[in-house]
Amino acid sequence: MMTVQDEERRRIARDLHDSSGQLLAVIDMQLSTLAQDLRKAAPQFNEQVEETERLVQQLQKEIRTTSYLLHPPLLDEAGLFSALSRYVEGLNKRSNVQITLEIAPNFGRLPRDVELVVFRLVQESLANIYRHSGSETARIRIARDEGMITVEVQDQGKGIPPEKLVEIPSEGSGVGIRGMRERLRQFSGELRIESGENGTRVWVTISIPQTPVSKERTRTDEGDCVKVFTSI
Ligand SMILES: Nc1ncnc2c1ncn2[C@@H]1O[C@H](COP(=O)(O)OP(=O)(O)OP(=O)(O)O)[C@@H](O)[C@H]1O
Ligand SMILES: [Mg+2]
Repeated sequence: MMTVQDEERRRIARDLHDSSGQLLAVIDMQLSTLAQDLRKAAPQFNEQVEETERLVQQLQKEIRTTSYLLHPPLLDEAGLFSALSRYVEGLNKRSNVQITLEIAPNFGRLPRDVELVVFRLVQESLANIYRHSGSETARIRIARDEGMITVEVQDQGKGIPPEKLVEIPSEGSGVGIRGMRERLRQFSGELRIESGENGTRVWVTISIPQTPVSKERTRTDEGDCVKVFTSI
């Protein structure tokens, strides 16, 4: 289901960018030509024309952001280092959480599904930090070592409430953490969530498949894949 959803997101992101985005770019150009003529011929419409131009530009921006969030094009084109750097740069500008990203510039490429799972894990962890932790800082560390990827996202917020933390190993947690688990199930790896009054740390390891292997061959039992630790 997750793979189907990812493909669908990729397709919608591309369609939005290539069709609605391109059409809007043309509308924007035509509007600005029209506005120039109209400014001289009928200045009484100036205000409406300017407002319309502003709305078109806002819509262009929204389409770009939605398309990017659905599926960052840089991930397929340039890999994790570029896609995550750009993502974090944008968040650092737009929010009051200071995020640091530690990933080697020569991190290299990974199979497409591994890159996507790492990106989504970071995305969900950061969304949780914004929405729930109250932390002013977040640190992401991604390392690669001999067939193994380690991803760590840490905050210094108030921690996951104990009643939520005990629900995490079962189906009780929100869609976000459950989604992380579901995504990781197609690889052999481990997910640990440690949380306490000094903050939360999501720690994930993923073995990189040597060759593109079928999901059946890499699938592990949930028990192997998920471990939750409750204190920091
Ligand atoms: N970094 C964090 N700091 C504090 N609490 C957190 C953090 N991450 C998760 N939580 C808590 O764990 C719960 C489960 O998180 P999860 O991402 O699964 O669901 P959600 O964020 O509530 O909803 P969504 O389905 O939109 O992701 C959250 O509701 C929140 O209470
Ligand atoms: Mg969430």
